[in-house]
Amino acid sequence: MTERFGVYVHIPFCAHRCDYCAFATWTDRAHLIDDYLAALRTEVSWAVDAGMPVATSVFVGGGTPSLVPADGLAAVIRCVPVAFGAEVTIECNPDDVTEDLIDTYAKAGVDRVSIGVQSMVPHVLAALGRTHDIGNVERAVAAVRKVGLRTFNLDIIYGAVGESTADWRTTVERALALEPPHVSAYGLTVEPGTPLAADPARYPDDDTQADEYEIADELLTAAGLANYEVSNWARPGHECRHNLLYWGQHDYRGFGCAAHSHRAGRRWWNVRTPERYLEAVAAGRSAEAAGETLDDDAKRIEGLQLSLRTGAGVPADALDGEALAGLVERHDDRWVLTRRGRLMANEVAVRLR
Ligand SMILES: C[S@@+](CC[C@H](N)C(=O)[O-])C[C@H]1O[C@@H](n2cnc3c(N)ncnc32)[C@H](O)[C@@H]1O
Ligand code: SF4
Repeated sequence: MTERFGVYVHIPFCAHRCDYCAFATWTDRAHLIDDYLAALRTEVSWAVDAGMPVATSVFVGGGTPSLVPADGLAAVIRCVPVAFGAEVTIECNPDDVTEDLIDTYAKAGVDRVSIGVQSMVPHVLAALGRTHDIGNVERAVAAVRKVGLRTFNLDIIYGAVGESTADWRTTVERALALEPPHVSAYGLTVEPGTPLAADPARYPDDDTQADEYEIADELLTAAGLANYEVSNWARPGHECRHNLLYWGQHDYRGFGCAAHSHRAGRRWWNVRTPERYLEAVAAGRSAEAAGETLDDDAKRIEGLQLSLRTGAGVPADALDGEALAGLVERHDDRWVLTRRGRLMANEVAVRLR
C-alpha cells in the first residue's frame, strides 16, 4: 500500500471577513489571485522536482478556495501527483457553489467538498456576519449531488450570539435533512486579535456550548453519522482521510502562504502574507519562514493528544483511566473518550503520560 502523504494548498482570499475568523486570509487582495495561483504551481513543481511523494490526500483550504477562478485552481491541483483513489477536498462557501464550479473541480480529480454552512437559521447567519442564506446551502448540496462527487462535508458552528439551543437544534436538523455523509460541528472559539475577541458581550457561554455539543452528538449519531473525532461525524467510509493523516502524525507538505508542512518530526511553515509569498517564489527562494523539530518525547505526547481526540483513543498505559471514570471508557486495550469526556478533552489530555 502507498505510504500516506498529504498535500495542503492554502488560498488566502475571502469576499468578506467574518469577525470571528483568525485564519490567514485577506479581502482586499483580489488583484493578486492570478499571480498567486501561478506561484502555487511553481512551488509545487519545485517540490515534485525534489522528489515529493505522491499524495494520498489533498486538501485545498482557506480563506475561500471557491472564490478564485475554478480553472486556475484546477490547474494547481493537476500539478500535484496523486495516488490512485486519492481523496481531494476543496473548501467552498455556499454562495460560490454552482454545478459548473463543481464539474470543473471534479474534472481535476476533486472527489470531496467541504461546505461552510455554519448555521441553517437566518438570524444566526446574520449574527455570524455570513453572506449566504439557507437557499444557497440547499442549491450547493444539490449541485454536488448532480455532478456526483464521491462525498462532501458540511461545517456548522454553535455558540453565536443570540443563538438559542432550539436554533442550534434546527441547524443540525436542517443540515441532516440534506443527508450529508460528513458533518464537522465546531464550538465558536474566541480567537485573539479578532473583532469578536474585542467584544465580550458576544462571547459564547461554556455551559450552553456543552449542551449544544450534546444535542449535535445525539442527532448526528441517531442519523447514522458516527463521531470519529471530537468535532467530526461521518457515515462509515466517509471519514476525512486528510484530517486522519494529520491526527496520525503522518507527513504532509503545505503550499502557499501560511501553509504548514511536516516531515519525520520536523515542522515548518511558510511566510504569512501573500505578498511575501509571491516575492519569495518570484525570486526563486523557498517561502519557508521558520521551523521546529520535536524531540521524541514531545512527538510521543503530541501523538497521544491527537489520538485521544479520535475514536481510536490511546493505549491503556498512557492514562490512569480508572481515575477518570465517566470521561473515558475501555475499548479492549485502549481508553477512548466518552461524550462527556469529549467535552473535556483538553482536561483529560493534560493527564496523558
Ligand atoms: C477557515 S474556514 C474556510 C471555509 C470557508 N471560508 C468558510 O468560512 O466557510 C474553515 C472553517 O473554520 C471554522 N471556523 C473559522 N473560525 C472559527 C472560530 N473562531 N470558531 C470556530 N470555528 C471557526 C468554520 O466552521 C469554517 O467553516
Ligand atoms: S470564516 Fe471562512 S469566509 Fe469567513 S473570513 Fe474566515 S476563511 Fe473567510
